[in-house]
Amino acid sequence: MSTPTVIPPPILSVTSPTDITTTCTTFSLSRSDFDLLHNSSKSAKSLSYSPYSHFRVGCALLTHSGDIIVGANVENASYPVTTCAERTALCKAVTTVFDNDVKWGGEGEQQLRFKAVAVATDISPPASPCGMCRQAIREFCDVEVPILMFDGGEGYSVLRLKDLLPLSFGPEALGVREMGRQQESKSSS
Ligand code: THU
Repeated sequence: MSTPTVIPPPILSVTSPTDITTTCTTFSLSRSDFDLLHNSSKSAKSLSYSPYSHFRVGCALLTHSGDIIVGANVENASYPVTTCAERTALCKAVTTVFDNDVKWGGEGEQQLRFKAVAVATDISPPASPCGMCRQAIREFCDVEVPILMFDGGEGYSVLRLKDLLPLSFGPEALGVREMGRQQESKSSS
């Protein structure tokens, strides 16, 4: 059996109106969504605590209600204790923006999902989220959600979560959303 070839995504440019329009159309983002994701993830790099690697990562999460939550990588003298930018942002969002009452499903479920994720680094080509972060993103995003990856200059790439994490395992496998619906209908009756 032959091994499937993985084709890297094209490098697009934030200075190309055509690239931005194509990105927005393909991934159902407005121009203002794109600008927010771009500017917020890039500026979040300045929040990075990375005295060991000096590798700054900024992350921006866009909610369906248009909120942006940012995070950056936080390193530790005991290296494995480091938290990546994506997981810093996710934990921040879940504990500050999400409404705990709808956390487990039901009508408010959309509030618990992000519309897009952006990651910014100083390297080129743009870095993509590590494996652990892909799985962490999977918990709170549909697999169709775009992951925008910005490099240290004008370049960026976009892939859907399902392309970065194929055949993924998520909360529905454990019936969490269904359980939530039951809990919600019980509490409203
Ligand atoms: N890092 C992230 O913040 N996100 C990733 O997806 C990959 C790696 C951070 C962790 C560490 O602080 C530095 O980049 C070098 O690995």
